[in-house]
Amino acid sequence: MGILLDLKTTGALEALLKANKESTTEVLTEPTVAEMKDLFKVMLGVCMRNINGLAVHPDVSLESIMIDLELMGFFEVSASSSTHHKRRHDLVYHTLDVVYHIMGLEKLCADNHIDMAEMMMGALFHDLCKTDDYIWADEGSIHAGKKVNKARFVSNPNKQLGHGTKSLLFMAKWFKEVPVSIRSSILFHMGPWVDEAPGDKANAYSNAVSKYFGVLIIHTADMASARGV
Ligand SMILES: [Fe+2]
Repeated sequence: MGILLDLKTTGALEALLKANKESTTEVLTEPTVAEMKDLFKVMLGVCMRNINGLAVHPDVSLESIMIDLELMGFFEVSASSSTHHKRRHDLVYHTLDVVYHIMGLEKLCADNHIDMAEMMMGALFHDLCKTDDYIWADEGSIHAGKKVNKARFVSNPNKQLGHGTKSLLFMAKWFKEVPVSIRSSILFHMGPWVDEAPGDKANAYSNAVSKYFGVLIIHTADMASARGV
């Protein structure tokens, strides 16, 4: 079953379009956390059914991954502390938004023989690292030697290094095999600002794009979401 047909069959595509459309209005009709969790789960299920070469470890299932994500705070934390999607639950919101933007690049993906399910998988996990990047700071608490004037998510002083690499590291708990195209899209989703490339970052990014065009797709969708397009 093709991914778009699978998405339509499950109702996820319609839900995603609805959630995104509503979130851009002035009316308070943003998707609830429960709706976003359901949508994420449906999409991950679509990926797990459609991607060749994706394999989970023994005893890992869609259900167990969802439980782990919950425990990691994936549905709770923000997607940043100071730039975009700073609110509680914004990591999953941003994640779904990136998938939405990828769906809008469907023709570009098709013209370049990019597997949409692989792109969706990359989007779903590209910022998994952020479950370790941010912690909640109450108003009046001390963070980085300063008093926090307004409760918000702040950078975790004890976070592990890395961004794309950290997302891949966390994913390894569940997946024993992930296609290299997906791993590349996650590793280089920051584009020319990729943390993991010492030296000429722009060159490292462009080399990655020339090998796996999906890197450009993920980076473009991520930027579009981060900038509120
Ligand atoms: Fe992102």
